[in-house]
Amino acid sequence: MCTLSTEADRHQAQLLDGARIAADIRNEVRADVASLHETAGVVPCLVVVRVGDDPASLVYVRNKVRTSEELGLRSEHRALPTETTTDDLLSLLATLNARDDVDGILVQLPLPAHVDEARVLESVGLLKDVDGFHPLNVGRLHQDRPALVPCTPAGIVELLLREGVAISGARACVVGRSRIVGRPLAELLLQHDATVTICHSRTRDLTFVTSQADILIAAIGRAGFIRGEHVKPGATVIDVGMNKITDETAARQLFGDDADRRIETIRQRGYTLVGDVHPAEVKAVAGRLTPVPGGVGPLTVAMLMRNTVTAAMRRRGFV
Ligand code: GUN
Repeated sequence: MCTLSTEADRHQAQLLDGARIAADIRNEVRADVASLHETAGVVPCLVVVRVGDDPASLVYVRNKVRTSEELGLRSEHRALPTETTTDDLLSLLATLNARDDVDGILVQLPLPAHVDEARVLESVGLLKDVDGFHPLNVGRLHQDRPALVPCTPAGIVELLLREGVAISGARACVVGRSRIVGRPLAELLLQHDATVTICHSRTRDLTFVTSQADILIAAIGRAGFIRGEHVKPGATVIDVGMNKITDETAARQLFGDDADRRIETIRQRGYTLVGDVHPAEVKAVAGRLTPVPGGVGPLTVAMLMRNTVTAAMRRRGFV
């Protein structure tokens, strides 16, 4: 009895290595880019549009552009001032839509509050919409005839499949109903025959719902929100969150055995990253868990690269 409880206390979830899977996907994309060049003389081109000076967006966009170049794609980074209007953006998009050498267009979100985001997203050419945010691409996804699927949800499903996590018949619970992650992910999991529940800020008795899930996805944007009590023992937990914390006491409370290393990071860089999952508590209950950093983040960029190559091939009628 005593031995059993000690072993349970020592249980640690297997960490799912999103960074390694993302590297595999990037290698596959690199090979596809090389063969597209050899066979058709085509080098796909991604244009990333960023408005304003949000520091997190700048880091994400630089990462997208750098990764494109590493894989042999061409890329352009259009950095526009905060005062850019909806009309300015629509006219830039019209130019990019008309350019035959541009295969993928991504408008980094969030946009400044004065910009009409919905109008901007529906003005990205359907065949170049590598984010999958155009209403027609969203509609196609929900009719199970997708063309370009949003990158973070697509990356999460790829991770589950490559790690051999059984989706068919599983109870999957997505916490967070955003249009970028929660909703499209729920749809993809449904297409893989999971029984899907979406939870959000008004969900009653959240713990009761989440603790039924074989696959639990946290995409809320609140540091350490999902605690041990939310998790079914042995469940697969996917942490989509990316939150900065600067407080050493909070780091000690969240990271358990790993706290010293995280506190060192705070002292060196001024912050450390934590997801929407409380890592120390959830590691002790879950069967598998994606780490932050190194879990879902790298997959998003890898899937964007794949979408850009898919867009280039589709537009030319190769697939
Ligand atoms: N901001 C946060 N995530 C995303 C994403 O997947 N695409 C775009 N365009 N902006 C984002």
